[in-house]
Amino acid sequence: MRQMYEHRFPIVLGKDFAGTVTEIGSDVTDFAVGDKVFGMVAKQRLTDGGGFGEYLTTAAGAGVAHVPAGLDLAVAGSLGLAGAVAIAVIDALGPLSGKAILVSGATGGVGAHVVQLAKARGAHVIATAASGRATEHVLGLGADQAVDYRNDLATQVKQVDSVVHLAGDGASLASVLVDGGRIVSAAHLQLEGHEVTPVMANPDPAKLSRLAADVAAGRVRVPIARTYPLDQLATAVSDFAARGVLGKLAIAVA
Ligand SMILES: NC(=O)c1ccc[n+]([C@@H]2O[C@H](COP(=O)([O-])OP(=O)(O)OC[C@H]3O[C@@H](n4cnc5c(N)ncnc54)[C@H](OP(=O)(O)O)[C@@H]3O)[C@@H](O)[C@H]2O)c1
Repeated sequence: MRQMYEHRFPIVLGKDFAGTVTEIGSDVTDFAVGDKVFGMVAKQRLTDGGGFGEYLTTAAGAGVAHVPAGLDLAVAGSLGLAGAVAIAVIDALGPLSGKAILVSGATGGVGAHVVQLAKARGAHVIATAASGRATEHVLGLGADQAVDYRNDLATQVKQVDSVVHLAGDGASLASVLVDGGRIVSAAHLQLEGHEVTPVMANPDPAKLSRLAADVAAGRVRVPIARTYPLDQLATAVSDFAARGVLGKLAIAVA
């Protein structure tokens, strides 16, 4: 990460968070002490502190929103970053009703949101999954079809109007795209002969509130696979790095 972020140890990692406001700045009007909030740490430098801790500071105008009634704090704490990327993906795709889309990386944190949001907007969703368990996972999220990314995609997928690239080989994804179809990537894809729309998480409070409302209303589910206490954070990170995780790994701080 050295090239991406200035840092020196010790570093508090973690992007997602949820909790209770304990202090506010004198000019903050949107939040009060005691409010339940969630979001994504939107700081440029790792040295500014992340979400894996009992306390964090955040600017009131970026990366934080209220937890609405009906949304569990533990779920809200697993929502911010992946949800904000997924909203950016969906907004970049434009109208989806009746369109076929292929979500590559559907088994991941961002993918879980993209599959559900695209489905809710009327898309026919084809999701990548590498095993029987993963296939069940993406179909459970509402995907219409699951395809194994380890096999040739062109033999499994006819043609799609759009591709969402969260993982995988760009050229083989592009091979199943209709002429003039759109590729949106959250994973820095560059592909000769194709215009790729890059997306970044933009966790402004209005977008976070949109996300939270979808989850609180049951339109989107956040699959939490396992919850670890804070003192087992290192185990959580190595479990995540071992791959094959289906759903979010959550850290319970309190
Ligand atoms: N632009 C931004 O602001 C932003 C923010 C957050 C994340 N991101 C990026 O968005 C991408 C997705 O993030 P995430 O948090 O959802 O990651 P994640 O949870 O690690 O999910 C990635 C998924 O892709 C699957 N996968 C691996 N190789 C694949 C392949 N060849 N084809 C299809 N699927 C494959 C993995 O499943 P297996 O278990 O089968 O390996 C995993 O489930 C990452 O590249 C991340 O860096 C961007």
